[in-house]
Amino acid sequence: MAVIEVNHPLAKEKLNLLRNINTHPDQFKRYLEELSFMIFYEASKNLPMKKETIETPLKTMDAEIIKNRVILITILRAGIGMTRLIRELYRETAVGFIGLKRDEQTLKPITYYINLPKNTNNSEIFVLDPMLATGGSIIKTLEILEGYNIHPRNIISIIAAPEGIESVQNKYPNIDIYTCSIDEKLDKNGYIVPGLGDAGDRLFGTEE
Ligand code: PRP
Ligand code: URA
Repeated sequence: MAVIEVNHPLAKEKLNLLRNINTHPDQFKRYLEELSFMIFYEASKNLPMKKETIETPLKTMDAEIIKNRVILITILRAGIGMTRLIRELYRETAVGFIGLKRDEQTLKPITYYINLPKNTNNSEIFVLDPMLATGGSIIKTLEILEGYNIHPRNIISIIAAPEGIESVQNKYPNIDIYTCSIDEKLDKNGYIVPGLGDAGDRLFGTEE
């Protein structure tokens, strides 16, 4: 398993805007979408391809197309903000949802919703959640998916904490984690430092 930090200057610029306390929820939503597409672009670079014959105005040719359907597994709530632009720019996607909420005391995720595509055969699965903090939500998601015989290829998280990466790596050594930043640490409340605060609240304007 690898942890891939997407260090593209445009992604770094966008991440700074996302972190900034003065970024309005409306802009936060836009930056999260843009950054999610940038990481997805990187995470999808090794997707298997197949040959298909197409006609240009000049001749018939063998073209390479993406072989399998892409499935985005979105962790609610904040993962919602990661799918729209990816789907707009690459339409052949299906989306599954897993609703989790961290208990503020124990920091353990509570599952409240599962809605997955019926057919996941011959698919490439990506799990989307902007924050990988303790890793509890990602591990719970992977456990739920295992129960449906769904095996993701990659996790895409905008910001990851070293503690969470280690927990996920210990349990799922074969999954790659794509992130824009491996931050310093978790604070005593389980928030990523420096992080960006509560991603769901910032996305949906529910901080207060
Ligand atoms: C946030 C975030 C992740 C989780 C990460 O969601 O979007 O799902 O915390 O923390 P972990 O790695 O320690 O599990 P939260 O549970 O706050 O729910 P929300 O998106 O509905 O706000
Ligand atoms: N969830 C968030 O939204 N932010 C954090 O820093 C940690 C968990």
